[in-house]
Amino acid sequence: MRILITGAGGQVGTDLITLLVGRGHQVTGTDLAKAPAGLPPGVAWAQTDVTVAEEVFDAVKAAKPEVVYHLAAILSATGERIPFRAWRVNMDGTRNVLEAARLLGVRQVIFTSTIAAFGPGLDDPVGNDVSMRPSTMYGLTKVAGELLGEYYATKWGLDFRGVRFPGLISAVEPGGGTSDYVNYMYFHGVRKGAYDAFCRPDTTIPLMYMPDALRAMVELSEAPKGKLEHRMFNIAAMSPRADEIAACLAKRLPGVRYGFKPDPMKQGILDSWPKRLDDAAARAEWGWRPEYDLERMTDELLALVRAMPPEGGAAAPAVAAPAKAKATAKAKAPTAPSARVVAAKPAAAKAVAAPVGKRRG
Ligand SMILES: NC(=O)c1ccc[n+]([C@@H]2O[C@H](COP(=O)([O-])OP(=O)(O)OC[C@H]3O[C@@H](n4cnc5c(N)ncnc54)[C@H](O)[C@@H]3O)[C@@H](O)[C@H]2O)c1
Repeated sequence: MRILITGAGGQVGTDLITLLVGRGHQVTGTDLAKAPAGLPPGVAWAQTDVTVAEEVFDAVKAAKPEVVYHLAAILSATGERIPFRAWRVNMDGTRNVLEAARLLGVRQVIFTSTIAAFGPGLDDPVGNDVSMRPSTMYGLTKVAGELLGEYYATKWGLDFRGVRFPGLISAVEPGGGTSDYVNYMYFHGVRKGAYDAFCRPDTTIPLMYMPDALRAMVELSEAPKGKLEHRMFNIAAMSPRADEIAACLAKRLPGVRYGFKPDPMKQGILDSWPKRLDDAAARAEWGWRPEYDLERMTDELLALVRAMPPEGGAAAPAVAAPAKAKATAKAKAPTAPSARVVAAKPAAAKAVAAPVGKRRG
């Protein structure tokens, strides 16, 4: 199947390309960034700004995708730093993608929303169909994106579906995000032997290991339309307290010291997010089941982080590259996809978008 991905150079997109190519799809990646070195063979790339309608239309016309995964976005922490840019990318970008899909015959658009879309004060666990009143620019643009997609589905019959991701964890350098404390516990634990998290020990948010997140998008895309009563779905995997993550790591990293020094601004954002998501709708309607809990994620992630070069070096992909792609990537450059994109990102993109290869929760 022909598939186009927006924001394909980011944390999720980089690993999604590998997964989709491995499943035999014909993939076109698009991003503000140039094509990353070591792209799997056969993957097309169109440098595209989603805020410019003509560029989105040109990319969709050339790729003729049946399905679009719309990932391009400005995420939570960056969205608070440059809120009007977040508005343009997340609002105009989503409208341009939906409009191109409608007018150019794309069958399905997969949208990636977030726990940041809910806002504070909701019952625990947070249900699929609650009133959403987020307190960040990122959150409010994601709610609007959900609603706009549902509008296109109702009014024009576009097959719009999406997941609300928890904080995603993978072997990618964190940077500037509010759930980054989780990644730093792994990275700094291995590299420095100590880490003071910027949150309270009892901080609890929904988290998910990247392979589960990628599988969720693909399984939702492939789910029979007739079985879906919703279009947007909570998905959940684990909600460990920060000190539980530290204890889980300490068992495997003897001698490592974890402390907690809460940053009031970041703690405020964390406290505004749900602690747990109720994913009953996803389980019932398309059979969603996470495969990774804290223990299994920790075993796999620690192995990846230990295998990474020192700070600032390459990140490991969350999914295995297809054999051919792996060989090519190795021959071209010794870096994994996520980190290679950092090098490929042009200066202009750096100024307006959060750096690729950093996770922002
Ligand atoms: N990573 C997480 O923990 C997380 C959690 C919840 C939801 N999500 C959602 O998943 C999606 C992917 O997130 P990610 O972690 O890969 O983010 P990321 O920041 O790593 O990647 C986003 C990509 O979008 C690109 N981009 C930014 N502005 C653009 C523009 N104007 N035109 C084209 N491309 C542009 C960036 O260059 C980047 O490569 C996002 O929609 C995000 O909201 C992610």
